[in-house]
Amino acid sequence: MSTNFVTIDFEPIGKRVDAGVGSSILEAAHSAGIDLTAVCGGAGTCLQCQVQVIAGQLALPNSVEKSVFSDAMIQEGWRLACQTAIHSSMKVHIPSDSLTTPQRLQVEGIAETLGAPSRFHIQEFSYRHDENKQANGNDSAPYDIFNNFPYRINPEQKGLRESLEKAILSAGNLRLIVHQDQILNFVLQKERVYGLAVDLGTTKIAAFLVDLELNQVAAKASASNPQIHYGEDIISRILYCMDHPDGQELMQKIVVDTLNQLIQQMLVEVKANARQIIEAALVGNTAMHHLFSGLPVKQLGLAPYLPASVTAMEIVAGDIGLGISPFGRIYLPENIAGYVGGDHVAMMLATQAAQRKDTVLAIDIGTNTEISLVHEGQIFSCSCASGPAFEGAHIKEGMRAAEGAIERIRMDGEHVAYQTIGNVPPIGICGSGILDAIAELVRNHLLDKRGNFTALQNIERNSHVKEFELVPAQKSGSNHAIVITKRDINEILLAKAAIQTGIEILLKTAGICSNDLDQVIIAGAFGTYLTISSAIQIGMFPNLPVSRFQQVGNAAGTGARMLLVSDEVRSQGTQLAGQTKYVELTLYPNFQEIYLNSLKFPSEEKQ
Ligand code: FES
Repeated sequence: MSTNFVTIDFEPIGKRVDAGVGSSILEAAHSAGIDLTAVCGGAGTCLQCQVQVIAGQLALPNSVEKSVFSDAMIQEGWRLACQTAIHSSMKVHIPSDSLTTPQRLQVEGIAETLGAPSRFHIQEFSYRHDENKQANGNDSAPYDIFNNFPYRINPEQKGLRESLEKAILSAGNLRLIVHQDQILNFVLQKERVYGLAVDLGTTKIAAFLVDLELNQVAAKASASNPQIHYGEDIISRILYCMDHPDGQELMQKIVVDTLNQLIQQMLVEVKANARQIIEAALVGNTAMHHLFSGLPVKQLGLAPYLPASVTAMEIVAGDIGLGISPFGRIYLPENIAGYVGGDHVAMMLATQAAQRKDTVLAIDIGTNTEISLVHEGQIFSCSCASGPAFEGAHIKEGMRAAEGAIERIRMDGEHVAYQTIGNVPPIGICGSGILDAIAELVRNHLLDKRGNFTALQNIERNSHVKEFELVPAQKSGSNHAIVITKRDINEILLAKAAIQTGIEILLKTAGICSNDLDQVIIAGAFGTYLTISSAIQIGMFPNLPVSRFQQVGNAAGTGARMLLVSDEVRSQGTQLAGQTKYVELTLYPNFQEIYLNSLKFPSEEKQ
C-alpha cells in the first residue's frame, strides 16, 4: 500500500519535513529532529505537546484537546501534536514551552532588536603618498591629514593619532570608525567591523561578537565564570577579596582571561583579528560589574549594600588587557543598587518593559533574582536571594540542563512519567525537572503545604532520610534511584519563598494586587525552560492565566547587544536606572511575616 506524503513546515525552528498522511504531528516533528516534549510518549495524557496549526486542514479536536484548550484557542488552531493526524500540508507553530530544554534554548530569546540606529558610521579613507610629498616635501610623516577633515581624532584615545598615521603610511586605505564627529578607531581596507557584547553572570559568561555593519550576531561563545573557584556566590567572592590583598586583581584577571579565550574562539570562527573588535558593552550584576572594573566591593557585602558607583562607565580595553582593539572602549551601563545591576537594566531594555503603558512584572531568575514592577509610569525593583537550587545545585540528584537530565515530570498519583534531555535514561534532574517534580507532588497531594510527605509507600525507602523515588535504579542511567529528598524540597521552598516575597512586596509597594498584572516577563536561562504552571502550582508565581506569562530567554545578553550598537538605548538605560525606585525587601514593614507565609505551598490546587 503506498503512502501519500505531504509537507509540514515547523515554525519558528524553520524545519520542513515530508510526512505520511495519517501520521501525527508529533511523529512528523520527531522525524524532523525537533524535540517536541512528549512526556507520555504520545498517549495523550501529559498534555505537553501543544502546538498551533497556522495553515492546513485540521480535523475537529478530540475530547482530550477540548479539555485542554478553550474554544477560542481551538479556533486559533491549538491542538495536541500527538492527537492530531495529518491530512494535508501544514504550517505548525511550536511554542517554546513545548520544546525540550536544549532546543528551546536555541530558539528562545527576544528577536534581535539590533535594528536600533548604530552608534557608529564607517568612513572609507584613502590617502595617496604623492599628496603628502607635495605638501610636506617628503613621505616619511604625513602632514596633518586630519586638519581639513570633517572629523577629529578623539584626544582621549591615547596613541590613536600615532597609530592611525602609521597605518595610513603603510596601508593608504583605511576604514575610520566615526561616532558623531569623532574618529574612535579604524580598521584596514576590506576588514569588517565588529563589536563585543558580554553578559557577565555570577555562574556563566555569555559573549557575542556582533557584526556592526550588518547589526547581526556573527558568533557566540560561553564559559563558566572562573571566579566560581573562589566562591559560588557573590558574598564568598567579596570575602575572598577582603581576605586576600591581591584578591580583587585576581578576580578581574581571570574573567578577562576567560573573555579573551571566548573572543579568540569567535574570531577564529569569523576569520577576523582582535583589532577589528572596535568596542564592547558588558552587563553584569553590581558585584560582577565592580570586580570587572576594579571598583571596591567590600561595602557590597555589608548592609545597606551600597554600590561604589551607579553611573555608566567606559573602560579602555587596553587598560585591563581585554583582547579587542587597544583603543576599544568597554561600556558598562548604570547599576540600580547593590544587588540590582546593569544586567537587569539590560534585561529591561531588551524587553522594553519600562516603556509599557500597562502593568508589567519582569523577573530575571538566577542565583540572585531581580524583579521590576512597571506600573503607571513608575518602576519598582528589588532583589531576592533565591540561591542556586533551580540550577540543580544543593539538590541531591540535581544537575545542569544537559543530556540525561530529567527536565519534565508529570505524575498521576504516585505514577511518574518523565522526559529527559536527549531522550536517554535519566542520570539526574535539572531545574525545570525539580520544579515540575515538586509541583506534581503538591498537585497529587503527596506533599502538604509545609513540604512534608503525606504518603508513605514510596517514601519509606530509607528509614533515615525521607525521599520520593522518581525513577527506580533499574531504569536510571546511573544505576541508582533518582529521588527527591525532604532536604531538596526545603531548598526549593526557600528559593520560591524568596521570589514570592519579592513579588508580593513590590505589588504592595505599588498598591496593587497580582490580578492587576497584565503581563509577567520571565528572563534568564532557568526562566526560559521552567514550566509556568508548575511555578504557579508551588506559589512562586502569582496565580494568573498562563497566557499572561512570557518567557524571553537571555534578555540581558540581548540588552548588552543593544547597548553596544545604540546611543539611544544607552540613554534609555540611563533614564530607566534613574527612574527606578529600589525597594529593600528586608526593610519592608512586615517582611518577616510575608516571608514566613511564603514558606509553604498553596494548599489548594491552583490550576
Ligand atoms: S505527548 Fe501528547 S499529550 Fe503527551
